[in-house]
Amino acid sequence: MPVNIRGRHFLKLLDYSPAEIRYLLDLAKNFKAMKRAGTPHKYLEGKNIVLLFEKTSTRTRCAFEVAGYDLGMGVTYLDPGSSQMGKKESIADTARVLGRMYDGIEYRGFSQDLVEELAKYAGVPVWNGLTDQFHPTQMLADLLTMEEKFGCLKGLKFTYMGDARNNMGNSLMIACAKMGIHFTACAPRELFPAAGLVETAKELAAESGGSVTLTEDVSAGTRDADVLYTDIWVSMGEPDEVWEERIRLLRPYQVNAAAMANARPTALFMHCLPSFHDTRTTIGAEIAEKFGVPEMEVTDEVFESPQSVVFDEAENRMHTIKAVIYATLC
Ligand code: CP
Ligand code: NVA
Repeated sequence: MPVNIRGRHFLKLLDYSPAEIRYLLDLAKNFKAMKRAGTPHKYLEGKNIVLLFEKTSTRTRCAFEVAGYDLGMGVTYLDPGSSQMGKKESIADTARVLGRMYDGIEYRGFSQDLVEELAKYAGVPVWNGLTDQFHPTQMLADLLTMEEKFGCLKGLKFTYMGDARNNMGNSLMIACAKMGIHFTACAPRELFPAAGLVETAKELAAESGGSVTLTEDVSAGTRDADVLYTDIWVSMGEPDEVWEERIRLLRPYQVNAAAMANARPTALFMHCLPSFHDTRTTIGAEIAEKFGVPEMEVTDEVFESPQSVVFDEAENRMHTIKAVIYATLC
């Protein structure tokens, strides 16, 4: 059946069928080939998009900007301090104003409810650039990267180590479950994803041929994995007070040489970035000084190893976001 997602929002992968995700991945591959060949693709000339960020960003912002320019569009960036949203104007009013001027709206913020509300009132497609619960555009980049490296998605063994109930843990569980990948959350029980979402993921996995496993056991969780994936231990918006407890809980779940050695010899290391793999960042240096942890969720050795594909993922943010913009606006 032909896929048509024109006019749709892109708020979470739960709203998309495997066939629609497949379509977006194939479209992204085409855009990547065009970009590499230097073939112009200004298919959306005359359209304009706005990027609303209530949290900081490097990859997501730049990916939306470059994708927009490559497609021939005008792009406006609004940072947390430079719009009325939230402080002087409600989400509903902001959505109705921006929807009158722009053809599409990207939003990065706190609760998923906010982006859903924006979408309800905007009248134009809204794309979720990360909330506390989900990070759907990152999922497309990660799926594309795995497919490029392994030649397929179905049947891969994927292990996520870290805070498995944050936006990345939730999103990766759903993405894997939809695409027939065997997903394992390897984390302390306190940081397992919410039971309701796990049930949904298990139902999706039953349809796709994948599976969903939660384990506290690092050896069992990493054994024969095709991918070890991790994320920062404390996410944007969380208070500094959680660092101590999070380090205590997650230190055993660091992706290090031993974890990689327990995975398949062909295993890849993946990370959405940014990453605390050394002390060359302000926060990395502060945490090292305060808690004696110079490398956090991944060791520098693994991060810099040939098995690490983190910068391929970062590049693929742009190609996949371009596919989302094009498919929902064209
Ligand atoms: N991975 C990701 O979303 O990166 P940014 O926070 O830099 O956008
Ligand atoms: N869990 C991280 C993801 C960053 C891309 C955060 O929300 O800060």
